[in-house]
Amino acid sequence: MEVKVLGKNDIKNAVEISKIIFNPSSKYLRYHKTKVWEEIMNHGGILLGALEDGKLIGFAFGHPKEENTFHYWMGGVLEEYRNRGLGTKLLEILEQVVLEKGFVSITVNTFQEKYPVQFELLKKHGYEIYKTENEIEDGVHMTKSYLSKKL
Ligand SMILES: CC(C)(COP(=O)(O)OP(=O)(O)OC[C@H]1O[C@@H](n2cnc3c(N)ncnc32)[C@H](O)[C@@H]1OP(=O)(O)O)[C@@H](O)C(=O)NCCC(=O)NCCS
Repeated sequence: MEVKVLGKNDIKNAVEISKIIFNPSSKYLRYHKTKVWEEIMNHGGILLGALEDGKLIGFAFGHPKEENTFHYWMGGVLEEYRNRGLGTKLLEILEQVVLEKGFVSITVNTFQEKYPVQFELLKKHGYEIYKTENEIEDGVHMTKSYLSKKL
């Protein structure tokens, strides 16, 4: 297994696995479009891929924000490859790459009820909540947490 920085040519493939990982409802489908990802790439986006025998099995994607901050926008690992440390590796390598590019902090937003594993992973890696918002989705209460970490 290897984690590496991907290029524009890999976007289509990464979008495909993002759809499998998130299975987005119509509300969120707009985030899983090649054009949207290309636009992010054109604005300094960094896309990491986790590959096994050449097959893309996970990704981490983000973009610059204000004040030397990088925003980790979306990431995930295909279900059958989880709990093998891949999510951790993607996060750690993203932090390294981002630091090398001169960013001083990372932000990431997540819904703790919907993505508890990611939430715990982030907290374990020193991400701290700086804001929360309550949202109702399909009648279910959700806490949107805004986290950040100084690199
Ligand atoms: C979050 C995600 C990327 C983690 O990937 P992963 O490869 O399984 O991550 P790792 O193997 O590095 O670590 C998983 C950790 O969560 C723990 N874990 C597994 N299932 C869990 C659960 N149901 N509740 C809490 N912790 C859990 C594991 O024990 C492991 O902890 P450890 O490092 O102390 O051993 C993956 O679960 C995923 O793609 N989820 C769906 C998409 C998602 O949530 N994306 C983020 C949205 S913001």
